[in-house]
Amino acid sequence: MKRIIIAIDGHSSCGKSTLAKALAKALHYAYLDSGAMYRAVTLYFLDNRVNYNDPDAVLEALKQINIHFERIEGQNRTFLNDIDVEHDIREMRVSEHVSPVAAISSVRRAMVKQQQAMGARRGIVADGRDIGTIVFPDAELKIFLTADLDVRTSRRHLELAAKGIDSAWDDIQKNLAERDLIDSTRADSPLKQASDAVVINNTLLSEQEQLHKALSLAQAKIKELSEA
Ligand code: CDP
Repeated sequence: MKRIIIAIDGHSSCGKSTLAKALAKALHYAYLDSGAMYRAVTLYFLDNRVNYNDPDAVLEALKQINIHFERIEGQNRTFLNDIDVEHDIREMRVSEHVSPVAAISSVRRAMVKQQQAMGARRGIVADGRDIGTIVFPDAELKIFLTADLDVRTSRRHLELAAKGIDSAWDDIQKNLAERDLIDSTRADSPLKQASDAVVINNTLLSEQEQLHKALSLAQAKIKELSEA
């Protein structure tokens, strides 16, 4: 069977990573959480007091940053300079700075290069903001996921609580709206729907229902390309 690239883009906390992980599992593909990489860079900048408005300081810091992923007991873990930061990168202090950091072109160049290398052998599901437009413009299946802001806020609130991260509903909503605005209006690789993406609005869909929709699309595409 032909191995494809599946690109999932969309607004903050609309279930991209839930869908991407489930698709990767069902297809025995790798999963790439591109947002985790921007979060890890942001964590490094915050913990090392790097002034991200200073281009030289950013370039220097990028040389010190090494990000990799591991699967431990069935969970995807993000490592920053060999330290497991999966928990820390989800904290609000990171969410509050990640969009300005992800708008910096030198940061994007470094991350995109690494992401493209991870997808070189195909057989990957990647989620983010620019996956179908910039990282893998030749992805065989592109999904643009959306959901109402209130539903996205409630989902993130529950997700953070389950991880033991306490945060107010209103603060989460404000952060999601702010990130959506910065991510969609930045000059370099703004979040936008690829012209060949399939839109899935999951406001009223369960995780199972959204997986079923996406998996059907993926299987049809794999079949079509394998028979071609
Ligand atoms: O999971 P959530 O929707 O909160 O966001 P994420 O996927 O962890 O991404 C965090 C932030 O990283 C986004 O708000 C973007 O600013 C940035 N990002 C990006 O610029 N490009 C990507 N491919 C992925 C994330």
